[in-house]
Amino acid sequence: MMTIRLLLIILFITQTNGKNQKTFSPIENSRPIIGILTQPASSIWQTSNRTTYLAASYVKYVESTGAQVVPIRMYQPIDYYLHLFNSLNGVLFPGGDFSNEYFYVAKLFYTWSLKEFDETSKLFPVWGTCLGFEVLLMLTRSSIDILEPCKGYDFATELTFMPDAADSQLLGSSLPLNIKNALQNDSTTANYHNFCMRPTNFSADPMLSTFYKMLSISPDLEGKTFVSTIENQSTREYSKHNNLKSMCLGRRYPIFGVQWHPEKNGFEWRVNTTIPHTSNAVKVMQYTANFLTNQTRQNMNHFESIEDETKYLIYQYTSEFTDLVESHFQQIYFFYE
Ligand SMILES: *[C@@H]1O[C@H](CO)[C@@H](O)[C@H](O)[C@H]1NC(C)=O
Ligand SMILES: *[C@@H]1O[C@H](CO)[C@@H](O)[C@H](O)[C@H]1NC(C)=O
Ligand SMILES: *[C@@H]1O[C@H](CO)[C@@H](O)[C@H](O)[C@H]1NC(C)=O
Ligand SMILES: *[C@@H]1O[C@H](CO)[C@@H](O)[C@H](O)[C@H]1NC(C)=O
Ligand SMILES: *[C@@H]1O[C@H](CO)[C@@H](O)[C@H](O)[C@H]1NC(C)=O
Ligand SMILES: *[C@@H]1O[C@H](CO)[C@@H](O)[C@H](O)[C@H]1NC(C)=O
Repeated sequence: MMTIRLLLIILFITQTNGKNQKTFSPIENSRPIIGILTQPASSIWQTSNRTTYLAASYVKYVESTGAQVVPIRMYQPIDYYLHLFNSLNGVLFPGGDFSNEYFYVAKLFYTWSLKEFDETSKLFPVWGTCLGFEVLLMLTRSSIDILEPCKGYDFATELTFMPDAADSQLLGSSLPLNIKNALQNDSTTANYHNFCMRPTNFSADPMLSTFYKMLSISPDLEGKTFVSTIENQSTREYSKHNNLKSMCLGRRYPIFGVQWHPEKNGFEWRVNTTIPHTSNAVKVMQYTANFLTNQTRQNMNHFESIEDETKYLIYQYTSEFTDLVESHFQQIYFFYE
C-alpha cells in the first residue's frame, strides 16, 4: 500500500516536472461517472409502457463537466443498487414529484455514503436538487413530514448568503467572485417547488441544524424566506492531515443540496417560464455542475470492466424531444419495463 502510494506520488511529480511544482494536488479520478436517479413517470406520460423517466437537462448538466452518466433505475433488486454504489463516483438526486420509490432508492445511496465515510473515510458525494434537496432533509430528519406548503413555483431569485457560507465548500472561499456576485445580486436561481423549509424550523431542529450548514436563504413569492442551499461538506485533507482542525470542524460528509434548479438555466427552454438564461445564470449553472464533478473526482470507484460500464451508461438510451410550450423538460429519457 505504502509503496504503491509512493510510486504514484513519484509518478505524479515526474509528470508535472517542469510545470508548477509548488501546487501539489492529490491524485484525482479523471474518469468520473455520476449516477442520476430516475423516477416514476408522471401520469400524463403513462400513455404507453413508460414507467420511469429522467429529464435530459440533468444528463447534459453532468456531461458538460467531463463526467459520464448512469441513470439509476427504479424498481430494481438491491444488488443492482449496491453494484452501482460500488462502481459510481457520486450521485445526483434530481427534482420531480415525491414518490416512495424515489425516496427508497435515495435512502439507499444516502445511507451507504454516510456509512462508507464513517468506516473508511471514502467520499461518495451526494447532491440533491429541488426534490432531491427536500429528500436529503427528510432522510437526515428520518421523517417525510417536515416541509411547509409555500408559494415557490416558477420564479427566479437571488440568494442571501448566511454566515456559514463563508466556511463552506460550495459557497466559500473557492467561489469565484463573479459567480458570487451573480448569485447574490442577480435572479440567477430558478425555483419550482411547492414546499419550503423555513429557516426558523431548520434552526429549531437539532438533527437538521447539526447535520447541515444553512448556506443561503431565499424569499418565496410571498416574501417569506426558505432555506435554499445546504451542505455537510467533506474535508478529507483536514481529517487526514490536520487533526487539530478536524477536531474543531467535526466530521463532514460530502452531502450538498439546493432547493433551486441550476440545470434549467442552460438546458430547459419552455416559453413563458421565469428560468433565467442570462450569461450570468448559465455561469452559475456551470459552477455548480463543475463543483459536483470535482467532488466526485476524489472517489476512485470504477466498474469492473468496460463491458460492465457500457451496460449501465446513459448511452444505452435515447432521449425524446417533447415541445417548447407545454413540457417543463424539452428532452426526456423514458425507461420501459
Ligand atoms: C414497451 O416499450 C418497448 C421499448 O420501447 C417497446 O419496444 C414495446 O413495443 C412497448 N410495448 C407496448 C405494449 O407498448
Ligand atoms: C415550523 O415552525 C412553526 C413554529 O414553531 C410550527 O408552527 C410549524 O408547524 C413548523 N412547520 C413544520 C413543517 O414543522
Ligand atoms: C452586490 O451588489 C452590491 C451593491 O451594488 C455590492 O456592494 C456588492 O459588492 C455586490 N456583491 C458582490 C458579491 O459583488
Ligand atoms: C456533518 O454532520 C455531522 C453529523 O451530524 C456533524 O457532526 C458535523 O458537524 C456536520 N458537519 C458540518 C460541516 O455540517
Ligand atoms: C406566453 O404568454 C403570453 C402572455 O401571457 C401569451 O400571449 C402567449 O400566447 C404565451 N405564449 C405561448 C407560446 O404560450
Ligand atoms: C476540487 O476539489 C478539491 C478537493 O476537494 C479542492 O481542493 C479544490 O479546491 C476543488 N476545486 C474547485 C475548482 O472547486
